[in-house]
Amino acid sequence: MTAPALELRGLSKKFPIRVGGRLLPRYAEHVAVDGVSLVVPTNRIVGLVGESGSGKTTTGLMAMRLIEPTSGQILIDGKDISRLGHAELKPFRRQMQVVFQDSYSALDPMMTLAQIVAEPLHIHGLMTARAQTEAALGWLERVGLDRSYGQRYPHELSGGQRQRVAIARALILRPSVLVADEPTSALDVSVKAQIINLLQDLQEEMGLSILFISHDLSVVRSLTDTVVVMHRGRVVEQAPTEAIFLESRHPYTRSLLDAIPVLHPRDRRRRTFQSAETIATGIPRLSARDLAAPAMPSATPQLVTVTPDHRVEAIVTA
Ligand SMILES: Nc1ncnc2c1ncn2[C@@H]1O[C@H](COP(=O)(O)OP(=O)(O)OP(=O)(O)O)[C@@H](O)[C@H]1O
Ligand SMILES: [Mg+2]
Repeated sequence: MTAPALELRGLSKKFPIRVGGRLLPRYAEHVAVDGVSLVVPTNRIVGLVGESGSGKTTTGLMAMRLIEPTSGQILIDGKDISRLGHAELKPFRRQMQVVFQDSYSALDPMMTLAQIVAEPLHIHGLMTARAQTEAALGWLERVGLDRSYGQRYPHELSGGQRQRVAIARALILRPSVLVADEPTSALDVSVKAQIINLLQDLQEEMGLSILFISHDLSVVRSLTDTVVVMHRGRVVEQAPTEAIFLESRHPYTRSLLDAIPVLHPRDRRRRTFQSAETIATGIPRLSARDLAAPAMPSATPQLVTVTPDHRVEAIVTA
């Protein structure tokens, strides 16, 4: 079996937070991500969902080594990159790229679009200057912008065009893994659909492996192969996309799905978010005997395997 493009093992992040005391500031730890394990197989799109503040972005940034994990491992093609220093990490940087909601803020306003898209080639010392420009113009075309855009500047673009440029810049190094953190949430509905189609086409063409972070569950449903659900820094459920939408087991996943806006009033479901207490009391209790993989009975919830691809945080009884 080949190693997955990206694997996270028990990844955690604690941020120091100031807890009062103006003269003698004291610090406490805020656990933003708490032992997250997930796999993005080669040539697959994995959705990462969960309410605001559940730790999605922090997880994505740690996966790309853009912020340092407090503990846990990050494996790219089976190689543990979590402790590599700057120089050792550089070859892996080519393999992993990120597109953010607001990638525009990362585009240098003084650079032409051709320069912006070519910059990663320049940073990695790849190709001659002429070939870099040619590659950048080719990528602008590939993301649906005319080559003439190469001479333009970021402020001349619409939001959707900026995201196209950000995608071209992220993919010009032909990475194997892409983290897309709400890449369309700032866009209008019609533009959003175009960018999603573009991502889908490029994923197929390049065999990309994508961790797709989104609040937009209808996009997640149409785009992803599997879904990982985070709640308060932990993974509470992960399963093939259809299983998440049709047979979710965790109360938090259900409350997230209930929050999807519906188009037809007669399909309207109860969509008040459940309180943390309701979610806590609704955590499934599963018998150790009924699980696909062995688990020890325990009073605290643990992530257990209910079918080979479907894992849910549950209390295991004897
Ligand atoms: N640099 C930081 N210092 C302190 N706390 C942080 C920092 N970055 C994130 N956090 C906290 O960590 C938690 C997780 O944040 P994160 O941005 O990963 O959530 P998210 O799931 O991406 O949310 P959203 O859907 O709103 O983007 C939040 O409570 C956030 O306030
Ligand atoms: Mg976020």
